[in-house]
Amino acid sequence: MSSPVSYELQGNIGVITLDNPPVNALSHAVRQGLLDAINAAQSDTSSAVVILCEGRTFIAGADISEFGKPFKEPGLPELLNIIEASSKLVVAAIHGTALGGGFETALAAHYRCAVPSAKVGFPEIKLGLLPGAGGTQRSPRLAGVKSSLDLITSGAPISAGQAAEIGLVDEIIDGDLSAGAIAWAEKLVADGAPIRKSSEQSVPEFDSSIFDQYRATLANRARGQVAPEHVLTAVEAATTMSFEDGLAVERESFVECMNSSQSVGMRHIFFAERQAAKLDGVSKDTPNRPVENVGIIGGGTMGGGIAMSFANAGIPVTMIEISDDALARGLGIIERNYAGSVKRGKLSEEKAAACRALISGSTDYAALAGVDLVIEAVFEDPDLKKKIFKKLDAVCKPGAILATNTSYQDVDAIAAATGRPEDVVGMHFFSPAHIMKLLEVVRGERTADDVLATVMTLAKKIRKVAVVSGVCYGFIGNRMLQPYGQTAQLLLLEGASPQQIDTAMESFGMAMGPLRVFDLAGLDVGYKAREALSDDDKGDPKTFRVPDLLVEAGRLGQKSGCGFYSYDDNRKPTPDPLVDELINSAAADFGIVRRDITDEEIVDRLVSALVDEGRKILDEGIAQRSSDIDVVYIYGYGFPAARGGPMFYADNRRA
Ligand code: 3HC
Ligand code: NAI
Repeated sequence: MSSPVSYELQGNIGVITLDNPPVNALSHAVRQGLLDAINAAQSDTSSAVVILCEGRTFIAGADISEFGKPFKEPGLPELLNIIEASSKLVVAAIHGTALGGGFETALAAHYRCAVPSAKVGFPEIKLGLLPGAGGTQRSPRLAGVKSSLDLITSGAPISAGQAAEIGLVDEIIDGDLSAGAIAWAEKLVADGAPIRKSSEQSVPEFDSSIFDQYRATLANRARGQVAPEHVLTAVEAATTMSFEDGLAVERESFVECMNSSQSVGMRHIFFAERQAAKLDGVSKDTPNRPVENVGIIGGGTMGGGIAMSFANAGIPVTMIEISDDALARGLGIIERNYAGSVKRGKLSEEKAAACRALISGSTDYAALAGVDLVIEAVFEDPDLKKKIFKKLDAVCKPGAILATNTSYQDVDAIAAATGRPEDVVGMHFFSPAHIMKLLEVVRGERTADDVLATVMTLAKKIRKVAVVSGVCYGFIGNRMLQPYGQTAQLLLLEGASPQQIDTAMESFGMAMGPLRVFDLAGLDVGYKAREALSDDDKGDPKTFRVPDLLVEAGRLGQKSGCGFYSYDDNRKPTPDPLVDELINSAAADFGIVRRDITDEEIVDRLVSALVDEGRKILDEGIAQRSSDIDVVYIYGYGFPAARGGPMFYADNRRA
């Protein structure tokens, strides 16, 4: 089999070229090829070596699909030490993304150049890992402790320009990278540039309290995760030990993280997220419809956030509201959101202004005549939605995609209000829509394949993680939330307190416990929804008696200052004895003798409630695959990524 790595002399420069699509991951064959190439360069007439990559990117990291499988020599740390020890000067030439082991390869080279659009970083933390091929040792020696800790603990990539500012890239090359890198290598040789080993640099001075500061911050930001502590230990070792000893500390930590259940869960999610983008029964070559402008109906909580998601990706939006006042209110919220992002340093003033300029408003549906996609985000009223889709059918051009952001309504019934149900699809965003990553794409009975394919592509463009759901009440996520919430109510009556339930679930890793979520969303929302139902449809009164009593006592949640908890002006929750009394009396009414409930039972029953419904959703074909459900819960409902999602957690706990 031919190697994914080739080596040839171009004049006096040895050029190593990797070609391992799609992202040049460091598979065994690539490592072996790199080793052979660097060895070949030692004994030929080359005076320097340039490492280049074919395709869309420099090396995007170790090959994650090889993790957990039997290891094959050469290992990456050893290979990178051999590259660094080269007697010929080595230059890494970066385009696309140099990530993880890919960036570590570049740091083991003696010099690094990059095109301006390139990005570099250490995303290992997102896989429950730390850099495991010298990254924690070489980066602090080149860029200092603080910059390295920021890069490694955030996992966020930085631009080539930023990397040049902190000493991780030496030269920015405009124009053709291959020619530019070879010319630069020739110049380095002509100038007598030394072989500069990152491992031999000394770590620049730093504030000795920095590790304690990061420990405190990470204990909060990355609650319960093991990898961040290992990052601190390994980077600290770079400041106190020899390179070799530091590398040994890094290795030990890396192996421990690699074997942790947290990393196994996070690696599952890495592949699950990519798998979710694939459509069962739809060819991946299905042509997309062009989407160059978007209309949004309703500029409330959801419409505004959805508009921002498109504008942030450079796609112009026309927002339709019911009146001038409502439009001004909606646009005002968008304005304030952008101003807030600028104030928090998340967005430059120029970028915010450019995004804001892409959003225009109207009260006239005729403004939607030319748009390629419309997303309806008005009140959750099925008749109103059907009326609007009828109107869209009349005003929108043929081929326009008509989407609804409904949380619960029947997408097929909405589609039937038009004469073109094949153009209708659900696009269920999560609040706040410009921040939350999840998008449930609801595939109606008659939704056309190219509509579905277009929406999946578009989701990636607006930086959402899309998961396909069939039509059912609540789709995947909200449908599973129902038995979860009901189980929390049963646990209250049987003996647990709100804070015990929330603390148990937060210790398990949920971003927020269920009762705090109810308080945040408003207890009146469910109350009103139940009022419209028959007793039969409401189900077991034990599953809603306590929230009903709370609403009737004026406790609507955070918005009224109290719900399952009492809230101070900063919305800090405090347990409230009145709520305990109310739960006790409701339990007595049902003849329930309250008992001690363990945290394990709480977690077990609540997660099982999610999983049991998830299995039904799979059996009914509502979700394409079990891992899609995991993606929904991690990106939409704060389920801990380190547990791999509810379905993965349940399957692996049983195994
Ligand atoms: N290993 C194996 N497969 C990988 C991979 C990797 N490191 N990175 C991406 N892929 C695969 C994906 O699974 C996907 O496969 P599919 O087409 O069969 O679904 C394909 O490559 C394309 O990936 P994306 O859809 O994500 O492509 P994008 O263009 O959107 O993004 C990317 C490209 C930014 C490189 C993104 O794929 C990415 O972030 N990759 C992971 C990078 C990473 O985490 N690197 C660190 C690995 S751990 C490590 O290096 C340890 C070291 O310190 C020892
Ligand atoms: P909202 O009440 O904040 O906003 C609805 C907006 O629609 C209002 O500004 C209203 O003036 C406007 N509107 C009403 N009729 C209109 C018409 N005929 N033409 C143009 N505009 C009209 O509601 P929200 O929360 O934004 O919800 C919208 C939809 O999104 C609902 O279907 C809801 O179920 C769904 N959703 C809501 C989520 C949430 O957390 N709020 C999450 C995901 C989906």
